[in-house]
Parts: sequence; structure tokens; C-alpha cells
Amino acid sequence: MGKIILIASGKGGTGKSVVTSNLGAVLAMDGHSVVLIDMDMGMRNLDLYMGLENKAVYNVCDVLNGVCRIKQALIKDKRFDSLYLMAASPEKLCENVTPLHMKVLCDKLRERFEYIIIDAPAGIDDGLVLASAGADIAVIVTVPEFAAVRDAQTVSAVLSRIGIDKRMYLLNNVKANLLGNGVFPSVAEIDEMLKLKAAGIIQADENIHIAANSGLPVVFKRDTYIHKNFKKIAYRIIKETAQQKD
Ligand SMILES: Nc1ncnc2c1ncn2[C@@H]1O[C@H](COP(=O)(O)OP(=O)(O)OP(=O)(O)O)[C@@H](O)[C@H]1O
Ligand SMILES: [Mg+2]
Repeated sequence: MGKIILIASGKGGTGKSVVTSNLGAVLAMDGHSVVLIDMDMGMRNLDLYMGLENKAVYNVCDVLNGVCRIKQALIKDKRFDSLYLMAASPEKLCENVTPLHMKVLCDKLRERFEYIIIDAPAGIDDGLVLASAGADIAVIVTVPEFAAVRDAQTVSAVLSRIGIDKRMYLLNNVKANLLGNGVFPSVAEIDEMLKLKAAGIIQADENIHIAANSGLPVVFKRDTYIHKNFKKIAYRIIKETAQQKD
């Protein structure tokens, strides 16, 4: 049965969509079957980052509303046969849809895919509650700023209340020379604030930024330090999904 991985954050712009696209890509490059679901309704980006922006006829909201079948909303990646995207709705409101609908969708997708990676909207609103309905694990993406880490704490608490016991954090956009310099927190301080297992650290790198804006997950270029790092992160997350609950 497939695993559902939620990618969330408190603050916007921490890198959730970049992380979602690259985790999906590294897993597909290893031959796993993966579907990415963009749950950031009205603010969709994942289709752009995957270079699939003109391919969406139906979106996840159409599936949840019963307007189309799951198959009709699955957009196949151009490069990997086992990688699919389900785009977000261009409208903010996904009307008449409840977390139960999302859970049912996740359970159906588990039968067909090994990994279902969900790109959540930033924040702790209803959009997060909907996106997280079927999740086995949440990866909270933060940047090394006190404000972002505090918002990550809040998201972690909300996800805990929802019942997602497996939560990790991922530190993105790191400029090593600024960590713990008195203005920005150190990794030890972030660990202490979040009290979550770390999935890894991703450096601020303009290649990541350029690749995302070119519609190409940066990991498609194999054997770079970025590819190796995303791969390690992906397998740390997967290992955690396989652990029994305490
Ligand atoms: N490690 C990184 N190095 C350089 N640029 C990055 C990195 N991670 C993300 N970015 C850039 O930061 C911006 C925000 O990333 P992204 O869109 O993935 O964030 P998000 O959390 O999904 O945002 P939103 O909350 O709006 O959905 C993008 O321009 C992206 O290219
Ligand atoms: Mg995003």
C-alpha cells in the first residue's frame, strides 16, 4: 500500500513546491511510482515547476467533487513514466468537499502508487486540514529564520491535533555563513524549537531556483550534490513512514 507524504509549512514561500517536485522526481528516477498532488487551491505552482502547466484538463477539486474520474486528472510527467501530477484548482474554493473526500481519494491512490506527495497550502487554515486528511507523515519545510521556525512550530501543533503523529522538519534555503550568527538561528536552536526529527538541510542554490522556474526539477541532473542530497532526504522520509508508531 502506498504512503502519503504531506509537505507543509507555516510561512509561505519556504520551498514546499520545490521540495515536492524534487522528492517526487528522485523517487521516480529510482523507479518508484509517484503522484504529486497540488493542494494549494487558487495558488497552484507545482504544474509550472514540473513543466506541465498546459496539460491540466481536470484537477484534484474535480476529482473530489466527482466531476471526473481519478484517471482523467492524472497528468503524466514528460520524462518519467511512473511520475504523475494532479493539479490544484485555479479557484480558491473547492466547494462541497470535506476532509473525508480527501481521505477516500488518498486511499484509492494508495492502491496504484507507492508514494503520494501532497503539496499543502502555507498556514493553518481549512486548506491545510483538507490537504492533510489522508497523510501518514508530514514534512514541515522551514527556512532558518526565527519567524518561519515559530510558524513551523504552530503548524506542527495543528498537525499533531489532527492526528498526524509522524512529523519531521526540513530546513531549506540555507546560507551556511548566516546560520547561528546571532541574527539567524543555528541548527541546534531550530532543533530545540521544533523538537522534531530533521529530514535534512537544503542549501540556498540558484540552480534550484533556476530549475524550478524552467519547469524542471533540479534533481533531473544526476549525481550533483543537490541530487544526492534530495535522494538522502527522500529515503530518510520513507524510512520514517515505515517505522511503527511509538
Ligand atoms: N534551496 C533553494 N535555493 C534557492 N531558491 C529556492 C530554494 N528553495 C526554494 N527556492 C525558491 O524560493 C521560491 C519559493 O519556493 P516555493 O514556491 O517552492 O515555495 P512554497 O513554500 O511552495 O511557496 P507557497 O507557500 O507560495 O506555496 C521559489 O522562487 C523557489 O525557486
Ligand atoms: Mg507552493
